[in-house]
Amino acid sequence: MATYLITGGCGFIGSHLADALLARGDGVRILDDLSTGKRENVQGTCEIILGDVADSQTVRQAMQGVDGCFHLAAVASVARSNEDWVGTHRINQTGSVNVFDAARHAKDGQPVPVVYASSAATYGACQTLPIHEDAPRNPLTAYGADKLGSELHAVVASGVHGVPTCGFRFFNVYGPRQDPSSPYSGVISIFTNRMRVGQDVTIFGDGGQTRDFVYVADVVAHLLAGMDRATGEAKVYNVCTGREITLLQLALMIRSLLDSKIAIHHGEPRAGDIRESLGDPRRATAELGVRAEITLEDGLKRLLDSL
Ligand code: NAD
Ligand code: UD1
Repeated sequence: MATYLITGGCGFIGSHLADALLARGDGVRILDDLSTGKRENVQGTCEIILGDVADSQTVRQAMQGVDGCFHLAAVASVARSNEDWVGTHRINQTGSVNVFDAARHAKDGQPVPVVYASSAATYGACQTLPIHEDAPRNPLTAYGADKLGSELHAVVASGVHGVPTCGFRFFNVYGPRQDPSSPYSGVISIFTNRMRVGQDVTIFGDGGQTRDFVYVADVVAHLLAGMDRATGEAKVYNVCTGREITLLQLALMIRSLLDSKIAIHHGEPRAGDIRESLGDPRRATAELGVRAEITLEDGLKRLLDSL
């Protein structure tokens, strides 16, 4: 049995990871400031430390004695990262450096591995699809820039400080416990929560934009595989399905699964919205032996069953 620290473990993805670690008998410690996470997301017995990942002392204490760290704490909203540039940078990049730094001497003075969340936002508007990990990184937002910065600091952690790391560029993640309450929430959580109570939805633009939606259980499988294979090479992998769907098709699929006749409106396109997003999942399959297996329809059914 090992014990892992999950930063952001009370959030959407982190709480599913906590469930999976507890289910296989591992111990879980969480560092979270509950800014978007909720205590009730964590269902098993975990040690929860309330604190800020941007505070180096707090992170050092939280890291003491663990066998590895999953670093997920971040301002996950792209829009918020642009509104509060400096504040987000503190959390999304200084927070990552704090985690890598604390991992240097975490267990008996020795380094422990760090698996961390990056994002497809590091690619910006990629011209060549599907997007392979070696595609140019051109982030268009503060959020994407800080995620790319975190990847660069992972190289420093591995190369200079002997901390094994593994980064994951998540594409659009969905599933139970994704908070639907903010206008910045993931589109699937907004659409499912509105349509199931008879409220209409708005597609920003013509609905021809595409996304590669990946179910949260598949994301957890990638994170666990990454912890087993974190190395000094600071590898980074896409977490995606290799399938895309337009926003209009998505809205129609959710409406049909709910057997609803709710209106689907079109609004102004969202500024800076990426037109096409489709990831290439092959590197993670080849090197980590993991692939996103849950189809969008199955994932949506699981999500709807959970509501
Ligand atoms: P989330 O908001 O549900 O989870 C983030 C967690 O971090 C929350 O529990 C929050 O309270 C905590 N947190 C925020 N600031 C903190 C701070 N200063 N100190 C300590 N804890 C703090 O979001 P999520 O979707 O679960 O995202 C998890 C990770 O995955 C993030 O790093 C995010 O950037 C990344 N990611 C998510 C997606 C997606 O589609 N959901 C896509 C790409 C990357
Ligand atoms: C998402 C993630 C971001 C991640 C990126 C990686 C969320 C909230 N954001 O950004 O963290 O880095 O993927 O690929 O999960 N839309 C509508 N109507 C709505 C809401 C959204 O039409 O009510 C559209 C948007 O215009 C966009 C698409 O749905 O075209 C997806 O939007 P969103 O879920 O906010 O995610 P991304 O912006 O792709």
